Amino acid sequence: MERDDPAYKGQADYTPLLLRLYDPLVLGPIARFVWRVPTSELPKGYREHIREPHLDVGPGTGYFIDRSGLPDGSRVTILDPNPNVLRHASRRLQRLDVTAVQADVLKPLPVKGPFASAALHAVLHCLPGPMERKAKAVSNVASVLQPDGVLFGMSVLGKSGNHTWLARRFLQTFNRRGAFDNLDDSEQSLREILEASFGQVQMSTIGSIAVFTATNPRR
Ligand SMILES: C[S@@+](CC[C@H](N)C(=O)[O-])C[C@H]1O[C@@H](n2cnc3c(N)ncnc32)[C@H](O)[C@@H]1O
Repeated sequence: MERDDPAYKGQADYTPLLLRLYDPLVLGPIARFVWRVPTSELPKGYREHIREPHLDVGPGTGYFIDRSGLPDGSRVTILDPNPNVLRHASRRLQRLDVTAVQADVLKPLPVKGPFASAALHAVLHCLPGPMERKAKAVSNVASVLQPDGVLFGMSVLGKSGNHTWLARRFLQTFNRRGAFDNLDDSEQSLREILEASFGQVQMSTIGSIAVFTATNPRR
């Protein structure tokens, strides 16, 4: 991805070093003590909703796909602009039939669908705002889902979220750095962009994050 692309900063931090530290640090103490999401809650969306063939946008280390319960050999497409992410996750997920696609979810998706499920898990808060721009990611995913397909995921909320003092410090720091661009992301605006592309949307909040499931993709 070009440095002057508005989405560049949201994916630039995922170096091989950060990817090695990601599970023990980001999915451990940061999820638990900063965003207040119990570790046991994290893989639930994957276990409940993932189906083959699955599209995973922004797979990170591949932790959740690995723990989703998908049987060996299941077809999974991972899509990310960052080649370090694609390499790391592909290595981890060797027991699955993985197709790695280097692409930006905000642009038309160069993938072979349709998919039975798709995840935008901890990705929307990394995309450049405003929400109207992030809506493109949701509609791009909706357009490659089967009519009975499901989109699921979660995102850290912006200023309006139910944050602790510590969470607000992290939010400010990550936004200043550009790794997050989500200060104006609210539950309401997230629901709106999901409802623009899906007939049915379910959302709930845990600590600082919103968890969502969307079905009946609109064409
Ligand atoms: C916070 S990590 C989440 C990783 C994983 N889904 C999880 O829940 O642990 C954000 C992921 O989104 C990817 N990402 C950031 N911007 C993106 C974009 N424009 N298109 C697709 N993926 C993007 C990053 O490279 C990274 O893999």
